[in-house]
Amino acid sequence: MTETLLVTGASGHLGRAVVNHLLAEQKVAPANIIATTRNPANLADLAARGVTVRVADFDDPASLEKAFRGADRVLIVSTGELDLKSDRRLKQHQTAVAAAKAVGVSHLLYTSMPDPEPGSPVLFAGDHYGTEQAIKASGIPHTIFRNGWYQENLFMSLPHAIATGKWYTSAGDGRVAHGARDDMAAAIAASLASGSKESRIYTLTGPQAFTTSEIAAMVSDATGKPIEVVQVPDAGLTEGIKASGVPEDFARIIVSFDANTRAGRIAQVTDAVEKLSGRKSRTLKQFLEANTAALLG
Ligand SMILES: NC(=O)c1ccc[n+]([C@@H]2O[C@H](COP(=O)([O-])OP(=O)(O)OC[C@H]3O[C@@H](n4cnc5c(N)ncnc54)[C@H](OP(=O)(O)O)[C@@H]3O)[C@@H](O)[C@H]2O)c1
Repeated sequence: MTETLLVTGASGHLGRAVVNHLLAEQKVAPANIIATTRNPANLADLAARGVTVRVADFDDPASLEKAFRGADRVLIVSTGELDLKSDRRLKQHQTAVAAAKAVGVSHLLYTSMPDPEPGSPVLFAGDHYGTEQAIKASGIPHTIFRNGWYQENLFMSLPHAIATGKWYTSAGDGRVAHGARDDMAAAIAASLASGSKESRIYTLTGPQAFTTSEIAAMVSDATGKPIEVVQVPDAGLTEGIKASGVPEDFARIIVSFDANTRAGRIAQVTDAVEKLSGRKSRTLKQFLEANTAALLG
């Protein structure tokens, strides 16, 4: 039987890359792919290629049920709702799981984060942990991808560090195994298209974990610009980020990443990306060399 595969957040960086990998490498026929968005104009290019585009709003349960109807395997890409003052994102994801259950989806896939269990310093970890619990409680066979931090996230911190020669952090000697977002998308697409039936959790990471000092040295090698890593306490880092114009809650989220790194909760390295996708992961060195001009600004 040919299964129908559905991807939410298909207009976003990750969802779009998953759909592209389904079409290109997994050779899934466009007619067997459903891509969802709140605004179909965002996916006009995919519709033109024969992909079915449906409206799904995570704040509107009826739209999710309508969108999921007829899909066999549904990938829920976590939404970008990062409101620390509400549990809106967890509710959005719970609504999506309930919709999948209501229409009889046979396999549910979800993009979580590494080590989201209670006690995580990451301020939104509870959204992912709560969603994982809702998926398990639904009884739907599932695949959970605990996506490690993307190499692309370094665009948030590196341009400033390169320009000023100082990289302020509270991550200490903690390590991060940054991975290429597109490698993770390729792995997720392969799993989505695989027809796998058993429930699994994969932690998706880059091929090697580095400390902030090691990353700074690699960036200096790639750009020719010296970077001094300055370790500061969480509170001081939060104030510094706020002073640069970042809203308080987002500053707190950024600092919670460093606290998480310091606690050793994002240092894990797995071979899941390569095992699932069948392709070699992009290294951090390759990422830095390919993006030197963009990082220099
Ligand atoms: N591991 C990491 O390092 C890392 C880094 C960044 C983000 N993330 C996570 O990965 C997710 C995807 O990242 P991305 O870069 O692909 O995000 P993105 O480019 O910002 O796209 C977000 C997507 O979510 C959809 N969306 C947002 N709110 C929605 C709602 N209420 N109902 C339906 N769809 C909604 C949007 O669809 P429409 O606007 O078309 O409706 C859009 O396609 C993020 O949301 C975040 O949870 C992880």
